[in-house]
Amino acid sequence: MNYDDFADLYDHQYDVYRDDLHHYARVAEQAAGPVLEIGSGTGRVTTFLARRGVQVTGLEPSARMIERAQARAAQGGLTVRFVQGEAGTFRLEDRFATVLAPFNALMHLYTPTEQLQALENIHAHLVTGGTFAFDLYVPRFGKPNTVRHEGETFHAPDGSRTDVFLVQRHDKARQHVTTEYHVDTTAPDGTLKRRHYTLTQRYYTRFEMEWLLRCAGFESPRVSGSFQGGPLEEGSEVMVFTTRAL
Ligand SMILES: C[S@@+](CC[C@H](N)C(=O)[O-])C[C@H]1O[C@@H](n2cnc3c(N)ncnc32)[C@H](O)[C@@H]1O
Repeated sequence: MNYDDFADLYDHQYDVYRDDLHHYARVAEQAAGPVLEIGSGTGRVTTFLARRGVQVTGLEPSARMIERAQARAAQGGLTVRFVQGEAGTFRLEDRFATVLAPFNALMHLYTPTEQLQALENIHAHLVTGGTFAFDLYVPRFGKPNTVRHEGETFHAPDGSRTDVFLVQRHDKARQHVTTEYHVDTTAPDGTLKRRHYTLTQRYYTRFEMEWLLRCAGFESPRVSGSFQGGPLEEGSEVMVFTTRAL
């Protein structure tokens, strides 16, 4: 899954998303050592950690997402190392006290082989007893095959307005959700420009992930249904996993 096309839209959509930041900072600070963030995107979490004095490396496959992350770090006067690579195949000399994969980054691993390869590779980059923390959304979807507008409207200083419309398809047999984004920008003179992006995510059930973690050499995880540590229950929107490398 290549996020190059999404880089422009991503910060508009998610810059204001802060629910997870203090959770990941707490995890990183408790482990007290170098941190690797898998799928670091435009540096939303990476720079938050760096600002708090955490020594953090961001791993990210998309060159354009890295460019944005570097710009964000430079703007904040922060030192962050960004490495281009994928969860399943990256190789670093370092061994980390903590690996994080915030905001559904593992949902871009589509087959059991890719998932296990990535988890084993993450395990190999952790010190023994090192912490691995990540979150995944609970599989629950809006009306499929229907154009939706979920309130995402952005106003730019030049007076243009951008509206995000989406259509989702759900392939239950493959546990895939594909979202087609139609992004309409209307200039002040009424000219309309439409861009189109496709994003496919592979969703997980809670116990599927627990087994994958055990197979990759992690201890049985703590799973909660919020970033404040509440239980995972009917109605939870997120599954928050924390485990250790055995
Ligand atoms: C939803 S974004 C999350 C970005 C960032 N962690 C955040 O919280 O804002 C998912 C990120 O995972 C990255 N990604 C996709 N496939 C990946 C892979 N195989 N290995 C590592 N990262 C991947 C994408 O490029 C994207 O930047």
